[in-house]
Amino acid sequence: MSDVMEHFRKTILITGGAGFIGCHVVKRFVRNYPDCLILNFDKLTYAGNLENLSEIENENNYRFLKGDIVNEADVSKVFADYQIDSVIHLAAESHVDRSISNPMAFIMTNIVGTVNLLNAAKLNWAGKMNDKRFYHISTDEVFGSLGETGFFTETTPYYPRSPYSAAKASSDHLVRAYYHTFDLPVVVTNCSNNYGPNQFPEKLIPLMIHNIKNKKPLPVYGKGDNVRDWLYVEDHAEAIDLVFHQGTTGETYNIGGNNEWKNIDIVRHICRIMDDKLNRIAGESEELITFVTDRPGHDLRYAIDASRIKKELGWSPKHDFEKGIEKTIDWYLTNTLWLENVTTGEYRKYYEQQYDNRQ
Ligand code: NAD
Ligand code: TYD
Repeated sequence: MSDVMEHFRKTILITGGAGFIGCHVVKRFVRNYPDCLILNFDKLTYAGNLENLSEIENENNYRFLKGDIVNEADVSKVFADYQIDSVIHLAAESHVDRSISNPMAFIMTNIVGTVNLLNAAKLNWAGKMNDKRFYHISTDEVFGSLGETGFFTETTPYYPRSPYSAAKASSDHLVRAYYHTFDLPVVVTNCSNNYGPNQFPEKLIPLMIHNIKNKKPLPVYGKGDNVRDWLYVEDHAEAIDLVFHQGTTGETYNIGGNNEWKNIDIVRHICRIMDDKLNRIAGESEELITFVTDRPGHDLRYAIDASRIKKELGWSPKHDFEKGIEKTIDWYLTNTLWLENVTTGEYRKYYEQQYDNRQ
């Protein structure tokens, strides 16, 4: 057992802290809670990048632990080495397109990995569950696809339609099962699409920014009519902080941006902003838009009703989309080294597989 914990009030284990959302959560917790030891447990898959955490990596209350949640021994070791008070579980395979080409990685990490963490918490917290918390971060994609109207609420039945969302749905059910069966003090949130700095450029917004910058084709699936509800990542991190501290055990909160965009509209919007920023002729980047074969089983629309978290915990997004997207574009244009470093050989290989047969 590490003696470093003596200096801290609590030890919080954050999984997936080197990823997109995780790094914003880790940075927020390290800065806001200097009396807590923040452990970042991450396998460093293609999506995990320790450069995301360079601002806080030398802080006293931060430790990085490399490990795989699918490996029971790795998970047991963290719980043996540290007296963990809480878990904030973000580690996951997160990209729908990858879940279509390789579902098994999603089953292993999102389901088996989550159960390994649940088992370790259950074992180590037996008889002292009172001041513990297992916070599972999930997605609105578990609810399936909406038509042109309506919103997902906390009671919308699950109807996942991709291997990614089915694996996340399965993990949500298991987390709730451990609450009902074993009294594990869990809380769950289901959030809409995030955007912002540090997102791996295989997801819509950073991919478009990257390709516009490099004058490469902008692959829009189908007709671009699919709708997503976009939330700035720091607003999600703030909601996570709030639910972690004030959410009711056993409950679920939906988190969303109340900010619906059709894919084609968002791509055109980014093109216009970037033409301006890069001193290009108006309309130049839109010429790069290329409609490609649709994603199989492509969910038409996601939209979150976030009234519960607003009413009960007083949360609402602080960033309006105009400012948030501009901040995001500026970040990618400024952090050229970050982009260069993540666009590795593996990424290019994946990118080619993904898009070469879609043109
Ligand atoms: P991401 O893909 O950017 O990062 C995932 C992180 O998990 C990476 O650092 C990766 O190295 C790590 N990881 C993957 N497999 C692991 C394993 N087996 N063991 C340990 N670490 C592992 O994902 P993200 O977009 O930051 O999403 C984080 C969480 O939030 C996920 O659970 C996702 O389902 C959820 N979520 C994401 C969004 C979104 O728009 N990105 C929206 C709602 C919910
Ligand atoms: P994505 O960022 O992969 O998030 P999710 O599928 O989890 O919502 O995709 C967002 C939307 O953009 C989704 O409707 C699929 C679409 N899309 C494209 O049209 N082209 C692309 O190259 C990508 C990656 C996504």
